[in-house]
Amino acid sequence: MAHARPSERPSGRAPLFLMASPRHFEVAYAINPWMRPDIWADDKAGHGRAAGAAFGALEEGLLAAGGEVRLVDGAAGLPDMVFTANAAVVLDGRALLARFRHPERRGEEAEFARLFEGFRREGLLSAVESLPEGLFQEGAGDCVWDEARQLFWGGYGPRSSLQSHRAVAGFFDREVVSLELATQRYYHLDVALSALPGGEVLYYPAAFAPAARHAIADRVPPDSLVAVGEPEAAAFGLNIVCVGRDLVMARTTPRLRAILAERGYAVREVDLDPFLLAGGAAFCLTLRLDRRSGDGERTPA
Ligand code: ARG
Repeated sequence: MAHARPSERPSGRAPLFLMASPRHFEVAYAINPWMRPDIWADDKAGHGRAAGAAFGALEEGLLAAGGEVRLVDGAAGLPDMVFTANAAVVLDGRALLARFRHPERRGEEAEFARLFEGFRREGLLSAVESLPEGLFQEGAGDCVWDEARQLFWGGYGPRSSLQSHRAVAGFFDREVVSLELATQRYYHLDVALSALPGGEVLYYPAAFAPAARHAIADRVPPDSLVAVGEPEAAAFGLNIVCVGRDLVMARTTPRLRAILAERGYAVREVDLDPFLLAGGAAFCLTLRLDRRSGDGERTPA
């Protein structure tokens, strides 16, 4: 099929992204190796202002690409709530709320539960549920929908538990391909893998256990599988928000920019440095609320 031009939505619907105000964002603790509370503490006001500007630029990038944004408040004392990708897994109007590994983020669960219950009441969602007790699952950050293959890639290890994948698969009635994340540095799947609408899967091999690399290669043909290097991964170049064939992401490397352009994507880069100090970038700061299975360029006939 011919590629849609950037900014053209084949379905005609604008993708809807949940974002949470960065007003309470700060780097106050370290629960992943990227987090730098020391740097933040040097100039809290300055970093706070920069974060506000970066967040605004991301929002503008999404709108310019043809997306819509639902902006909600953050909450005092929950600085990482700005990373809405971790709120839940959402597909077909159904949301499975996250359960966080670290106590620092657990307070977000009640906030997101309240917000999502509101979305259900207003008809944006039809079902909102919690994971069974004893499981961890950190939302879309560890559960990436691949619309070309109609499956979830599920990360586990540093944050989400392997056992959570069965619950995700059951709730959505979709396959979850479990991928073990081998390092603390690439602690969520969305910093190590990106599934693009044209069927390409971009990944950073060193982030994955050997069995996970095999699972990826088993499902993605070589011409669609793109391994990136450490410079791309470390610039959060896999943390990509797709708005059709427009890709909104942090400033990336010339190499990755060229790969994406060659595949027919329009890249919109945003300076997200203040959020990189917390270990997050574009995909982490958003959550698709309106994603339907069956949408996409390769809708089954
Ligand atoms: N500081 C946050 C954490 O460690 C960053 C989360 C980034 N989100 C993501 N989906 N990767 O949990």
